[in-house]
Amino acid sequence: MKRGKWASSFGFVLAAAGSAVGLGNIWRFPYVTGQNGGALFLIAYLIAVIFLGLSVMYAELSLGRHTHKNPVGAFEKIKPRSLWKGVGFLGIVTGISILSYYAVIAGWTLFYTYISAAGKFKQGLSQTDVNGIFSSLVSSPLLTVSLLFLFMLITVYIVSRGVSSGIERWTGILMPLLFVILIFLSVYALTLPGASEGLKFYLSPDLSKLNFHLVLTAVGQAFFSLSLGMGAMITYGSYLPDKDNLFSSGLEVVIFDTLVAFLAGIVIFPTVFTFNLSPSQGPTLIFKTLPFIFSKLPLGRLFATLFFVLLSIAALTSTISLVEVAVAYLVDERNMPRTKAAFLVGLIAFILGIPSALSSSIKPFTSFIAGKDFLSIMDFTWANVSLPLGALLISTFVGFIWKAKNAAEEIRFHKSKKFPGENIWIFFIKYIIPLVLLAIFISTVL
Ligand code: PFF
Repeated sequence: MKRGKWASSFGFVLAAAGSAVGLGNIWRFPYVTGQNGGALFLIAYLIAVIFLGLSVMYAELSLGRHTHKNPVGAFEKIKPRSLWKGVGFLGIVTGISILSYYAVIAGWTLFYTYISAAGKFKQGLSQTDVNGIFSSLVSSPLLTVSLLFLFMLITVYIVSRGVSSGIERWTGILMPLLFVILIFLSVYALTLPGASEGLKFYLSPDLSKLNFHLVLTAVGQAFFSLSLGMGAMITYGSYLPDKDNLFSSGLEVVIFDTLVAFLAGIVIFPTVFTFNLSPSQGPTLIFKTLPFIFSKLPLGRLFATLFFVLLSIAALTSTISLVEVAVAYLVDERNMPRTKAAFLVGLIAFILGIPSALSSSIKPFTSFIAGKDFLSIMDFTWANVSLPLGALLISTFVGFIWKAKNAAEEIRFHKSKKFPGENIWIFFIKYIIPLVLLAIFISTVL
């Protein structure tokens, strides 16, 4: 099978940023920031992105670009007939598993786009009414499963069209649109009466709240947000032409992802503080709190609709990459036609996603293990345990098996002079990253 290629390096940056920017930035980042005291978490997050995330980003991209292979093929090419390709398989399994529940939440955002546009969040709703809308969605098995199906179908369709004419083309349209909506909403949020209080919460840290759990959460959030630890960036890197500047492309992806998360906070905290609501209510923050707030604001229907369109787009460009990892494997290694591979992966993830879609409606999924619902168990297993483990194994492989200096040569522009910070990167990828990730992995599992 002929492999795909990005048509331009900007196209790659948008596609990879599309993978990175997702529910993780707009849904998860604001609520964990809210739960962890605001500004202090933001700082810990930025440190994790700069010192850990960026290094692993380069490790994955260089591995992909050097081998021009899917994650399994990449490990096999560098260390043939070894167990290392298992890391590639772990990535594929992790991708399909994350996809299965991620698409459930993505399906909710589609539904929220529809009801916002239809004017359901109208003036005079109480918080109880808004909570009721959320509960009636998640407690309807038919609705949640259908939304999961719909979202999966859209994703699979785009992936089936190919790397350049499917993924690159669509992310090239959707990402700029997302950015414009986000800027628009940020400016609007800053004009609200709660803006200064919201910004104070978000931007002026209380150092006394620093603790280990906060650091762990920040590191986990950074990896999830940057799509690291399961070979998504190996796969996207593998479609890059050899002449592309990996150093600057990788940096742009990281900056873009971080900027979007930062701006999501700028939209959400001023809005939440305008109505004296709690920023720390957790995963339902944007599904229960925001619609309530929008229902009270002038032009709320417009802004609510824009917000959920934004969220759906962000989710879509991420589910595309979650599908692509397994598809790349099936196309490269199993010679499967791309369309067939995309539909097969989508079908498996859909079936696996059904229990997550039923997590708030049908036993035993509502309380699966230790009182936690199926979706939460999946999120913990794959995002909190498997991604850091994958990132640990990938950095160890790059640092010691492939050798960090070979990877560094791949990152150098035209393989010529050293890239900025090259020695620091080598030190980090060999020692700091594996140690930190090992500590995180152990403490999460314990
Ligand atoms: N980075 C995505 C987000 O922030 O929503 C989630 C994700 C996508 C994680 C792709 C991992 C991945 F490979």
